[in-house]
Parts: sequence; C-alpha cells; structure tokens
Amino acid sequence: MSAIQSVSHETRVFNPSEEFKRQANISGMAAYKALCDEAERDFTGFWGRLANENLKFSKPFTQVLDETNAPFYKWFTGGELNVSANCLEKNIDAGLGDKVAIIFEADGGEVTKVTYKELLTRVNKLANGLKSLGVNKGDRVVIYMPMSIEGVAAMHACARIGAIHSVVFGGFSAKALQDRIVDTGAVAVITADQQVRGGKQLPLKTIVDEALSLGGCEAVKNVIVYKRTGADVGMQAGRDVYMHELAGKQSDQCAPVMVDSEHPLFILYTSGSTGKPKGVQHSSAGYLLWALLTMKWTFDLKPNDVFWCTADIGWVTGHSYITYGPLAAGATQIVFEGVPTFPNAGRFWDMIARHKATIFYTAPTAIRSLIKASEADEKVHPKSYDLSSLRLMGSVGEPINPEAWMWYYKNVGGERCPIVDTFWQTETGGHMITPLPGATPLVPGSCTLPLPGIMAAVVDETGGDLPNGQGGILVVKRPWPSMIRTIWGDPDRFKKSYFPEELGGKLYLAGDGAVRDKDNGNFTIMGRIDDVLNVSGHRMGTMEIESSLVANELVAEAAVVGRPDDLTGEAIVAFVVLKGDRPADDELRAKLANELKGWVGKDIGPIAKPKEIRFGDNLPKTRSGKIMRRLLRSLAKGEQITQDTSTLENPAILDQLGKAN
Ligand code: PRX
Repeated sequence: MSAIQSVSHETRVFNPSEEFKRQANISGMAAYKALCDEAERDFTGFWGRLANENLKFSKPFTQVLDETNAPFYKWFTGGELNVSANCLEKNIDAGLGDKVAIIFEADGGEVTKVTYKELLTRVNKLANGLKSLGVNKGDRVVIYMPMSIEGVAAMHACARIGAIHSVVFGGFSAKALQDRIVDTGAVAVITADQQVRGGKQLPLKTIVDEALSLGGCEAVKNVIVYKRTGADVGMQAGRDVYMHELAGKQSDQCAPVMVDSEHPLFILYTSGSTGKPKGVQHSSAGYLLWALLTMKWTFDLKPNDVFWCTADIGWVTGHSYITYGPLAAGATQIVFEGVPTFPNAGRFWDMIARHKATIFYTAPTAIRSLIKASEADEKVHPKSYDLSSLRLMGSVGEPINPEAWMWYYKNVGGERCPIVDTFWQTETGGHMITPLPGATPLVPGSCTLPLPGIMAAVVDETGGDLPNGQGGILVVKRPWPSMIRTIWGDPDRFKKSYFPEELGGKLYLAGDGAVRDKDNGNFTIMGRIDDVLNVSGHRMGTMEIESSLVANELVAEAAVVGRPDDLTGEAIVAFVVLKGDRPADDELRAKLANELKGWVGKDIGPIAKPKEIRFGDNLPKTRSGKIMRRLLRSLAKGEQITQDTSTLENPAILDQLGKAN
C-alpha cells in the first residue's frame, strides 16, 4: 500500500440553515447522534427496526444478521420479498399510481413521462416476455442499454422474476462485454439498436454481435433489442427479438416472484488491483433497504421533490440512485440520455430549470468541466438559468476539490443548498460517509461523517486504530445490510480483497486512504491505496490497462500510473517498452502512442485510453526486477526525482522516461 500524504486543512464551515433544518428528515446533530447511538447500543435491533419499517416482506425475516460464516454475512435471513414490487406495487398501493415516476429527457431533448402505474405495466410486459423466452429465477441477464426508461424497466423486469441482472456500461468494448457475459454465464442480453450521445448515433447491437462471436457465450439464447433509433441492425433469426415485439404481445399482469432476502439482485463489475474486473454481487433485501434509507437520510427526500441523479445505469450510482432508491422511495425523478455538454454546456442547468429539479446529484468531473465551459461562455453559466427550484445538491465518485465545491455551492446552489459529498463504492451498495443536509456542518472537500450504523474508521497497516489527524487506511468495522456479498464465482478473492488477513480478517477494506479531522472527526478521503485509478469518477485498474497494452503485438512491457489532472481527477499515463527498438523519431513515437491509445480504447473502452504514453528502452526496476511505480508516478507528474535511486538496476532510464514524447 502506497504512502498516504497529508492534506491541507480546510477551515470553511457551512452550517445547515434553520429553514432546511426545520423540515429535514434528520434534523440537527442530536438526531443524527441519537441514531448512531441506537446502532452502537443495539446493532441488530437498529437494523431490524429499519428493515421492518421500510421494506415489505412477503415472509418476515427471522434473524437480522447471521455472522456464522463471516465475512459472508447474511442479512434479514428467512425473509422473502420482491425488490421490484417494493418499488412499484408498494407505492401504487399507497396511492402513488398516478404520480410521475420518471421524467425522461432524450439526447435530442424529447421528454417522456411515465407514472408508477405505467412503469409497472411496462415492467410486467417485459418480465412476461423474459419468462416466455425461458428466463428463470437465478438466471443471469446482461443489460447493455442506453439511458432510457426501457433500461430501468429491463432491470426491474429481471428483479421481478428473480433473474440476476448485470448491467454493462454502454461505453465498454465488445471484449469487455464478452468477458462479463462469460463470467456471469448470462442466458440473455438486453440491448438497443444504437445509443445516442451528443447528437451522435453509436452502435450497441453490433457490439453485442461482436461480443457473442468472440466465443464462450454459448449460454446466451436470446438478444432482446430496444429500438432506440430504428437503425438497420442485423437480427439473427431464432436468437434476436425486438423488445416491443416481445413485450407487446404479453399480459400486463406479472406476479412478482418472491425471493429470499439474500437472493442476488445484481452483479456489477468493477476494477480491482489485478487484471480481471470483479463481479460485485449484491443482495435483495439489504441492498434495497440502504438504497431507500439513504434517499430519505442523505437526500432528505420529500413527496414533492424532483430528484435528479445524472449517473448512468451502467454504474452503481445509477443502480442505487436511479433504478432502485428513488423508485423505492416513491419519488419523481429525472433520467437523462446524452452528455452534459450537448446541445451546449448549459444542459444540466436548463434541465433543472425546465423540470424544476429540487435535488441534483452529479460528479465532480462534470462540475469541473462545466466550470470551464461557463467561464468561456456566459450563456451556459448557471447564473443564466433559473435554478431556484433546487434545495439540495450532491457529489459522488471522486474527491471534490474545495474550489469546485465552492463554485457549485455559490453558482448552482445559490449559497442556499447544502451539498452532500457522498463517499461510497460499488461494493458498499449505497452511501457510507456523507453529510446529512439538515444536520451536519459542511466542510468543502470532506465527506464528513459516517451514516448511522456505518462503523467507519481509520487504521494502520496492522488494523490498529489511528488517532484523528493521522492518515491511514479506511475500513468499516461492522457489516452493513447493503454490503457486497461476494465476488461472483470467486469467494476467495472476495475474502482476500475486502477482509485481508493483514488487517486481522474482520475489517472491511475500502481500498482508500483517509484522515479524520482532529477537531470534529470529519473524514477526508485521500484516494486509492491500491493500483486503482479514478478517472472522471470511473474506476480503472492499472493492471487491466497494462494487460491490454501488452496484448498488443508491438509491446513487450507496460506500466500504468495515475497523474493528478485538473479536469478528470486523475489521468492515465502509460510507460511502454516496445519489442523492437524505441523509435528515435518524435513523430513516429507520437504515431505509435496514438495507435496504442486506440488499441486500449477498442480493447476495454474509451474511458480506459491513456492520456499519455511514453516509450522507454526499459522501465525503472529494482535489482530483483520489481517495477518502481513510485518513481513512475513522480515522472508522470514531471517531478524531479529526489528519492533514493541506488536500488535501481538502471537509473539512466529515468532521464529518458522523464520527458514527454
Ligand atoms: O476512491 C473512492 C472514490 O471512488 C471509489 C469507488 O468507485 P466506484 O466503485 O466506481 O463507485 C463510485 C460511485 C460510488 C472509492 O473507493 N470515491 C467515491 N466517492 C467519493 C470518492 N472519493 C472521494 N470522495 C467521494 N465522495
């Protein structure tokens, strides 16, 4: 684990306004502390109470937490429920049938709204369609869809019949898609003919065809195609079927299949520190409980709110805060297709104004890019829009730098809206450390305090507690309902990755460094301590990119590191040794670098493309042959090497690699 550097001390504090506090679901620090105390005092009683108050079980659970096979924890055992029914029927039965569930805005600006009742009808028809194809409880279904009502409905259709979905982000390559289809053993793929981003039509179905042709996908019996653009895509007879044809002829009634609390709801792949992405497996009851509760606690959701999370359903944020949390909470939410910069960089502000969004949740990368755009053009500056509907804002996915926080606070929130900087992960299922907007004093750049019941701590490399003020390893000391259950098909890796023996085998290792403030105990996340990068809020494993590079026939060896980047948080820098000689010619090196960037883009997806590739005759290694990544990180940043290089086998290489190509 690499060294953790200290962070500067932020002294600005923003207390919740009396007005916000008065109406908040958790009002004031005393209310927050009371919940924390309840969890400390009676851990299982606390979670049992919340599950009973928030979820609708068809069969009540008999035990809150089963720790007999830790760290394979089981929550709400003996209970049965259906996640989709807990989102749809539960709210329809409570009188919300005609409430708008989703306001969908397409890339070109067309708006479609569906009520809870209408959404249930769509989900039922599609669920019946899946059943008619022979998809059963426990089967895996890969979803490779654009942002759409149909994408959300596809996830719910799976949940409704107890099928396990695995959504693959639409920016991933055929190879990455194939890997996930093979690893899950999917029986069906749900996709669209095309996706539309920034006015451009991009393929989806042809990528599915390519993925399936790569082999190992024999379990896939059907490909269901949502007609997004109507583009002419090849349909393989007997295998491929259009969604409207499949669902169109089905009944609009589909009894939800009740599943065990622990039944896997979904598998979502994320990058780890080794080459192969990890299939993070989530449960039904525990996962849903936390998605719903955090809507109430972190987002202070009220019946009249218009909630907007700008994430994609291909990431966990889209799962918890689009597909499940808001619908379980009976919210009206906005779902958008496209990018924040099309038709111009005012799209977010324009949409907030037109749809009267009250809660807005986005990523620091988006904010940073919009700051830049609005500095260049007043017309797309948030001040040119009526954002008075907003009452709360959130940030997710990466550290938000205090300057971006302040800009967001002033220009988007009008110094009126609290910002919840939510720290969490694919593995945690929902928020872990975040301010509560009606309670916690906000400090720019800090995710502040753990939610009630989340026993987060900072420890040293042996798992011992560290005092506040000292940077260390972020862990969670007790399980929580929405935690990862296992890595699909690889329980050993689950144990080793998240409950390592070095820390005593009982602490959940988040993989981030953190420090707590000496005065108020606030957490500040200091970035990953493993070989995982965070580029524009997307997690990328350095080994994944290295494996891709060395799979190219020209490449002998590659090492990938991250470099701080003003816009994307971190940027990917690759150091490459070619099988042949390093070209002396600048132009030739630039051409090769472009070729390799394109290769990685094709192999994994555009988000994994290195920003910079440097070629060397060799890589800096110790005499035992270990690549010294610490030095590479310094070189990538353009720093002078001041570290001791006497253990290097080939110190001269640093000069060559220190220069940009
Ligand atoms: O490094 C942390 C960073 O994103 C990682 C989790 O990435 P992923 O599983 O893709 O989930 C992203 C959406 C929840 C974490 O290990 N991270 C996430 N949120 C924050 C953050 N870093 C700092 N502050 C945050 N609020």
